[in-house]
Amino acid sequence: FIEQREYLINGELQTWNGPMNEVVSPVSINNGTEVVKNSIGSTPLLTEKEYLQALDAAVNAYDNGTGEWPTMSIEKRIAHIEQFVVEMKKQRISVVKLLMWEIGKNLPDSEKEFDRTCIYIEDTIRELKNLDHGNSKFENEEGIIAQIRRVPLGVALCMGPYNYPLNETFTTLIPALLMGNTVVFKPAKYGVLFMKPLMKVFQESFPKGVINIIYGKGRETVGAIMSTGKIDVFAFIGTNKGASDIKKLHPKPHRLRSVLGLDAKNPAFILPDADIDTAVSETIAGSLSFNGQRCTALKIIFVHESIADTFLKKYTDSLAKLKFGMPWEKDVKITPLPETGKTGYLLELVKDAKQFGAEIINENGGEVNDTFFYPAVLFPVNSQMRIYHEEQFGPVVPIVPYSNIEEIINYSVQSNFGQQLSVFSTDSEKIGFLIDELANQVGRININAQCQRGPDNYPFNGRKDSAEGTLSVHDALRAFSIRILISTKDN
Ligand code: G3H
Repeated sequence: FIEQREYLINGELQTWNGPMNEVVSPVSINNGTEVVKNSIGSTPLLTEKEYLQALDAAVNAYDNGTGEWPTMSIEKRIAHIEQFVVEMKKQRISVVKLLMWEIGKNLPDSEKEFDRTCIYIEDTIRELKNLDHGNSKFENEEGIIAQIRRVPLGVALCMGPYNYPLNETFTTLIPALLMGNTVVFKPAKYGVLFMKPLMKVFQESFPKGVINIIYGKGRETVGAIMSTGKIDVFAFIGTNKGASDIKKLHPKPHRLRSVLGLDAKNPAFILPDADIDTAVSETIAGSLSFNGQRCTALKIIFVHESIADTFLKKYTDSLAKLKFGMPWEKDVKITPLPETGKTGYLLELVKDAKQFGAEIINENGGEVNDTFFYPAVLFPVNSQMRIYHEEQFGPVVPIVPYSNIEEIINYSVQSNFGQQLSVFSTDSEKIGFLIDELANQVGRININAQCQRGPDNYPFNGRKDSAEGTLSVHDALRAFSIRILISTKDN
């Protein structure tokens, strides 16, 4: 049982003695007579008062851009982050174990999340060194000699989701810190205990007030911070609703820059000439890795009616081979779901789809056992059903038969979401045609491959309601800074 009572404000690790939030693991143990749920820890339920103290500490450390951190040389700031990542790596085993227990992510994926985050930080440091330490060379254009300098934005509020609680938040807060911003960081609702072994690492790696870490219920309390108008940049990965509820509280929206990763409904389009085996293996991984709880997951599959039977048979055969179990078991793919109420929501979507003519076509599909939800493949799905439009963020796979290429183009054009899509075809002309038709709809088109965020040097963003701004090793440093000009006349 991990009692995480510490929070970090102004360089001090404080101990909370007020009410705590119980962390219940989705992982349960069947003792033969009953299923025992594990209460594995607790975290502080801080109040508005502590949230505002954290904000004050970040505001004071920034000190209108005159503080030690925003004026520190980039070499020195890099040294702080290098120290941070060296110390963070020593906590790998504890963090990975906590990710498995708290969010049910399997061992290889939990390890990957940790390692990938460390690599991202190291690559970002390298990228910053290549940014001429933030200062460009002098240029002379139209008789004006100028140098561009990169400077921080101010105070950042960083929040992230439960599915990548480490990676999604650290890939915003570390670039924010590197560029000289000061930060208030609130870890996700689930996926928060892994912070316990990192609290001291944060405290010892940064000067007072540069990074402040708070815990609690979230939206309402974070709202108190936003409504002060003292946040300059809001980095948030989560739902549209969450982002806009918080953002709209800023009294001067024009002074707030946002870096947002939001809802997505990434489709796979399987054309009649697709290599079906490739389409099956990629869509299985794309729709069901980490039980479909990835913003980049394939959340709807369109298959041409001429190959639908073959595709469905191969897809469901392949799904039946996926091992389900506890996150630490060998080769396990389907694991318990951490979100309270998630299985109920997925069953609602299934019920709604059935009402409009879809069926679950795989054996055991939709069976629930405590926090397990056995993946359900729904077919034939159509636009009357909620699952056609809503982001399920879980192991329900809607498959839509289509006959005409215009149908898939229309789906993308009319969708409110625009993160990514996948096209499966062996016909390069058709692929080229679809790329041209769909390039203005999404942030990434994957050819004969599932959707995914990585490699992390590539831009990660989205169109429409799916994102604001771009993340990547290259883009994040730019997202958390602004270029200013120092210029003189060439007389
Ligand atoms: O949930 C969104 C993640 O950034 C997805 O990353 O595509 O590497 O799983 P991934």
